[in-house]
Amino acid sequence: MKYSTVITGFVVLFAACTDAQQNPMQDEQALTVQGAELAAQFVGTLLPTLQQAMQAGGPVNGIEVCALQAPAIAQALSEQSGWQVKRVSLKPRNQELAVADAWETSVLQEFDQRQQAGEAPAQINKAEVVAGEFRYMQAQAAGPLCLTCHGTEIPSEVSEALARHYPDDMATGYLAGQIRGAISLRAPSHQR
Ligand code: HEC
Repeated sequence: MKYSTVITGFVVLFAACTDAQQNPMQDEQALTVQGAELAAQFVGTLLPTLQQAMQAGGPVNGIEVCALQAPAIAQALSEQSGWQVKRVSLKPRNQELAVADAWETSVLQEFDQRQQAGEAPAQINKAEVVAGEFRYMQAQAAGPLCLTCHGTEIPSEVSEALARHYPDDMATGYLAGQIRGAISLRAPSHQR
């Protein structure tokens, strides 16, 4: 009787331990899928908004709309999902919202290297548990549309509008295909 209780105890304990070892991996995979979906949702909401604004009123209108809508979409997605949703860059335009922290900076540097090594930007992402917190980043490349406001030859009315809204803008001078920045996500705290 006594022995079997002890053995059962060990079996239960062993099962609990192996479970605890497997679950974080499964959690990480599930969170990676959720992160990728959320990043796609961000782009899928912002890009049509930007395109419509530019069609309706040109790039200056695009800037006005982007200045309001990009942070609003990030905030709405954060509230809906419980994740923290933002955009970051090594050369930020929005100096309040888009400055990268230490982990984001090293990941953005890695993204630049991967893009230079020939990896397709859509595939360039990173999932990692950092100090017990699940974080995910998806690279955003500068396509032809983006260069009107992020490229090397910015029309003068665009630079004037940018200077008005973003006096410390660093986000110009990009070539097509380069990594402009990334969507950066943190999982809700109960899933960390
Ligand atoms: C009409 C001008 C315009 C176009 C075109 C444009 N952007 Fe931007 N971009 C902006 C503005 C304005 C901001 C700052 C928005 C804010 O305050 O959050 C910005 C910010 C960003 C940021 C956030 C980081 C930062 O520097 O603040 C990323 C990433 C970004 N743009 C990527 C792109 C990509 C990729 C494209 C092409 C698909 C693109 N942009 C096209 C005007 C533009």
